[in-house]
Parts: sequence; structure tokens; C-alpha cells
Amino acid sequence: MAATDTGDANRAGAGSAGGELEAELARLLAVESFDPPAGFTPRQPEQADARDAAADPVGFWAAKARELLSWDKPFTRVLDDTNPPFYRWFDDGELNVSANCLDRHVAAGLGERVAYHWRGEEGERRDVTYAELLADTQKLANGLLSLGVAAGDVVGIYLPMIPEVAVAMLACARIGAVHNVVFGGFAPSAVRERMEVSDAKVLITVDGARRKGRTAAVKAGVDEEMADLPKLEHVVVVRSTGPVGGVETAMRAGRDVWYDELLAAADPVCPPAPLGAEHPLFILYSSGSTAKPKGILHTTGGYLLGATYTHRAVFDLDPETDVYWCSADVGWITGHSYIVYGPLSNGVTSVMYEGAPDYPDFDIWWQLIAEYKVTIFYTAPTAIRACIKWGAEYPARHDLSSLRVLGSVGEPINPKAWLWYHEVIGGGRCPIVDTWWQTETGSIMISPIPGITSTKPGSATRPLPGITPALLTEDGEPLAEGTGVLVITSPWPSMLRTLYRDDERFVQTYFSRFGPRTYLVGDAARLDADGYFWIIGRIDDVINVSGHRLSTAEVESALVSHEAVAEAAVVAQADADTGQAIVAFVTLRGDQVGDDDMIAELRDHVAHRIGKLARPRRVIWAEDLPKTRSGKIMRRLLRDVAEGRELGDVTTLRDPSVMAALAAKVATAP
Ligand code: PRX
Repeated sequence: MAATDTGDANRAGAGSAGGELEAELARLLAVESFDPPAGFTPRQPEQADARDAAADPVGFWAAKARELLSWDKPFTRVLDDTNPPFYRWFDDGELNVSANCLDRHVAAGLGERVAYHWRGEEGERRDVTYAELLADTQKLANGLLSLGVAAGDVVGIYLPMIPEVAVAMLACARIGAVHNVVFGGFAPSAVRERMEVSDAKVLITVDGARRKGRTAAVKAGVDEEMADLPKLEHVVVVRSTGPVGGVETAMRAGRDVWYDELLAAADPVCPPAPLGAEHPLFILYSSGSTAKPKGILHTTGGYLLGATYTHRAVFDLDPETDVYWCSADVGWITGHSYIVYGPLSNGVTSVMYEGAPDYPDFDIWWQLIAEYKVTIFYTAPTAIRACIKWGAEYPARHDLSSLRVLGSVGEPINPKAWLWYHEVIGGGRCPIVDTWWQTETGSIMISPIPGITSTKPGSATRPLPGITPALLTEDGEPLAEGTGVLVITSPWPSMLRTLYRDDERFVQTYFSRFGPRTYLVGDAARLDADGYFWIIGRIDDVINVSGHRLSTAEVESALVSHEAVAEAAVVAQADADTGQAIVAFVTLRGDQVGDDDMIAELRDHVAHRIGKLARPRRVIWAEDLPKTRSGKIMRRLLRDVAEGRELGDVTTLRDPSVMAALAAKVATAP
């Protein structure tokens, strides 16, 4: 059944009584496919792109690279695929990412356009124009050069959602330094690990960070963890909150420098370095199957093209008139591609918000959308589910009629959340783009095109032009329909180039199962008769909590680093709010008592080692864990037990009675 009538949908929008809304959502749950809203006229010629890409994918990307990016030296080679999986794009061309994001707009007379309407969590406002961003970027770039940073050096960035985070990334890009942003919600010890393995020379951080009315001493935490990193020569500190808890931020002479003082002393002019298209732009650590995070490496030309093109196409962007807001954090790939590089390269005005969606009240997002007349809003299913819980009365307080396109990212969106987003936030008028992609892919891969693709709640629909996903059976046979392993069968410009300093792990993780020309995504998916993709979830030991990727091994290794713990196994459990939640099965050392205090202590310990987002939702005391005869923990069985499923075959276990004991424990655990 297809729905074309948007009139009904509008009536279910903000302002309607709760009962009516419930009834309308229940009715819409039966609707399988939604045609593009009748009043929505797309701006971009996407069908032409799809045709061009189908006829000649490499030629299509070459044309887009020439049309959308400014090159210092035009490329003559588009794709070098002679050494798969080490693909190279546009590799004899030269360009600078910061010049594409800033200088070209200022040169075109758009310097006074606001790049970011920034809002602090206490309501502070700062409008940062493209000209201001360019001025600060040049000064910081010179500041970094004065600290001895050269092209190819790694610069760590550990900052909250303040405009300086964009300046820091762009300043690195300007001089060819490779940034390594760490999510502000990660603990300093996780930052240390990421600085150490990447040999970061400089870290740009902040005195303190605010969260829901409290201020955390970030620099003090950095000092505690990073006093003895031999390669870390300087720490640049943004003065954001001032003294934390009355304590002045300590600065170590010779190593630490205030950001504002560095800028004040710097030459205001720093010409953008023309860099080879394959020059590394950034590393972003992400979770994989082992405890060691993967340093996903992206390069200059292909990455910028992916971010720029998809940001335009997927959001039907008009940089002249749109006001765009992505609610992610810059510390994730979504923030890199769709808060910083895509929006700035396209020259649009964005909103950047420092705070949480429920502070000072549950309606702050909707207040910002109404105030800045946001036309495109991009968020995660987990946030939508939280908003549903808080209630439709919060969006109903504000005029959301400026919205035109809504986006979703990070995890499968359940139809109920999709419909609520569509009706309550979008008033039935706004196409929803459910965008599937990964840190590795650099930019969106599978997504509807607003106004063109009919949408089915829960499906990311079809691949974008130039992208070739496919489903394979376990044996590598292609599937025209059904459930299988998701792969991508040809290279695309914004693909990861390698894992930082670990080519072997790169090949092993992504290109060993089906050969060097078939990228193994790590997700299972279903392909329906209309060629729509439905992402099911990960096939590896990666957990997706609120759209944040964590590895079971990383959490396990944090748990066993606690002196009371003998062994731990971590699995994901389906969760109505966060998509998945972490369940830890823990065996304590003989003399230790598994009580509520110990649960609290272990949760704190994980928060301290990785970050709050990695804290287990449930801790279950296990006398023994289900292991095969060769000693491998069978997490699949633990997942069955955690989710209350009938247990499958346990005969391969060394001690099959372990599972019955665990099932009894889970039944009584909180
Ligand atoms: O499992 C998929 C899920 O998130 C994984 C990628 O995580 P990360 O690299 O952290 O990037 C998240 C933001 C792009 C994928 O392997 N995922 C991402 N988007 C979707 C999704 N699952 C279903 N639907 C999506 N739209």
C-alpha cells in the first residue's frame, strides 16, 4: 500500500491531541511505502546523476570532482585500481580542503554568510561567518606551524561542540597535518591511547566542558593521563569555561599554550598548501572486532568529494537558502562529514549546538529549529526515540514549518520512530532520508533522494549514484533478493584508504573474505523485491549503542583490567531506547563479592577507561562462561540468554550445564 495523501499526515502533526496522534500512527504502521510528499519539489537533478553513474561510474565521479571542488592542479588520472584494495583517486591532482571549505566562498563574496549559528548550552549565541572562520583558521594554521607541526604530522583534537573544533580541523587541513579527533565523551585514557598509537605531536583541547549544567575539568584529565607521552610536544588549550570548580587550569611551561594567545601572536595570512589528492586528511579511530581501535584513514580529494556531493544530493541542498543542522558530535564520522566538511564545502549556513537535547528542557531542539528556521535536520533514531518518550507536546510548542528534509543515521530506524519523525516533526511534508554509511565509507552510501525515492520506514532504500552495494551468501554467491552479507563491489572516492600504519589489518578486515575488490561492510542486510536495502545489524563483535560503535572486546578488556575481575564476556541486547545495550557477564576472582556496590564500581571503571557510553547496562555474575572445547567464548549463546531466547545447540560447549546456570541468573538479575 502506498500513501500519497499528505493532508491526513499534516493533521497528525504537532498540536493534535495525544489520542488522535496515536491512532494516526497506528494506521500508518500498516503503510509499507510512502511516495514523495506531494508538495515537495526536488532541486537537484539526481535522476541524471543516477543515469550518468550507471553508464560510466568513474566518469561520473570525475565530472562531479571537477564540478564541485576547486583544484589547484587539475587531475588527469581519475582512478588507479591497479593495486586493489589500495585504490587511488584523482592522484595527480592537487587541492586544499580548507580552501574549498572557506577561501573559495569568501572569494565569491560570501564572507559575511554565517557558517555556524552556534548556541551554548546556557543560551549563549555566536554567529561565526565564513570570513571569521577563514581568519581564525589561518592564524591557528600559522600557530601550529610555529609549534613545529609539518605536513603529515598528526594533531589530536579533543574538544566539545564549540566553533573552535571546526577551526582546529580546518587549520590542520590547511597545512596538511592529519587530524585525529577524539569524541569529547570518551575518557582521557581513551584519548591517550589514540594519541599514543598515532604518535600525535600536538593535542588541541579545552579547559573545561559543560554538560547539562555541570562542568568537567578536561585539561586536568588530559594532564593526568598524558604527562609522559614522549611524542606529544605541545598541548593547545581553548579557554572555554574558565576555571573549573574555582580551580585555574594548570599550564605546563614549554609544552602548553593557550589557543587565544597562539592566535594573537600568529601571522594572519597562511596560504593553503596545495596537497596531493591522496594526501592524508584525517584518522578517526573506530571500534572493530578486537580491543584495539582501528585508525580509519581518509585522504583529501576523494573524501571531500564524497562529503560534498552526498551532502548536496541526499539533503536536496540549496546553499543559498537552506539552514542545516546535524545534531551529531564532531567526534564521530557524522560530525566530520556532515557538520564540518560537507556543509562548509557547500557553503551553507549550519546550526552548531553545544548541549544535550534535554537541557535546559526537552524542547531545546525544537526551539532552535524555530528560531533559526532550520530547513534540514539530521539526527539519530535513538534521539527520536527519546523525544517520543518525552512527548509530542515539546515539539508542539514551536513552529517547525521551516523544516523541509529530515535525516536519520547511525542505526536501523524502527518504523514507529520513523512515523513519529515524519508526522510530529515533519508534519507529513518532509521526506525522510534514512542514510546508511560508516566511518569507513566516509560519506553516505545508501539513502533515498528527497522527492524522488519512495520511502519504506526502516529501509535506507537504494544506493546513491556511483555506489554498488550487493548482498552475498556466506559462500560469496550474489543474492538478488533475501538476507545476506552486505558488500560493496567497486571502489568509491571517499572510501577509507587503509588503517593507520596497519595495511595488513586493513586487508584482513575488509578485503580478505571475498577478495581485494569486494569491500566487506560488516553488516547483514536484506534486499527486497524492489531492490531496497534493509540493514539488519553487525555481523562482527561490534555493538551499536545509541548509534555509537563500541567493540565487545574493548569493553571486556576494560572490565578485566579491574582487579576484582577474573573474566568477562560482553554482548549486545536489543533495547527499545538505545537500539542495543551492553550486557556484561563477569566472573569475579574467588575472594570478591558480586553485589550492587561492585556493579557500580565496575560501571565506573569502564566509564573511566573508555567513557560513559561504554558502561554496561546490566552486569550478570557468572561462575563460568560458555566456552567451546578450544576455549572460545560463545557470545551467541550469551546473547540468546540476555534476550531471553530459547537456547540453541549447546553440545559444542565444554560444559553444557553452564548455560542453564546463567539462564537462571539472568532471569533474576535486574
Ligand atoms: O551497522 C551500521 C550502522 O552503523 C555502522 C557504522 O557505524 P559508524 O562507523 O560509527 O558510523 C555511524 C554513522 C555513519 C554500520 O555498519 N548504521 C549506520 N547507519 C545506519 C546503520 N544501520 C542501519 N541504518 C542506518 N541508516
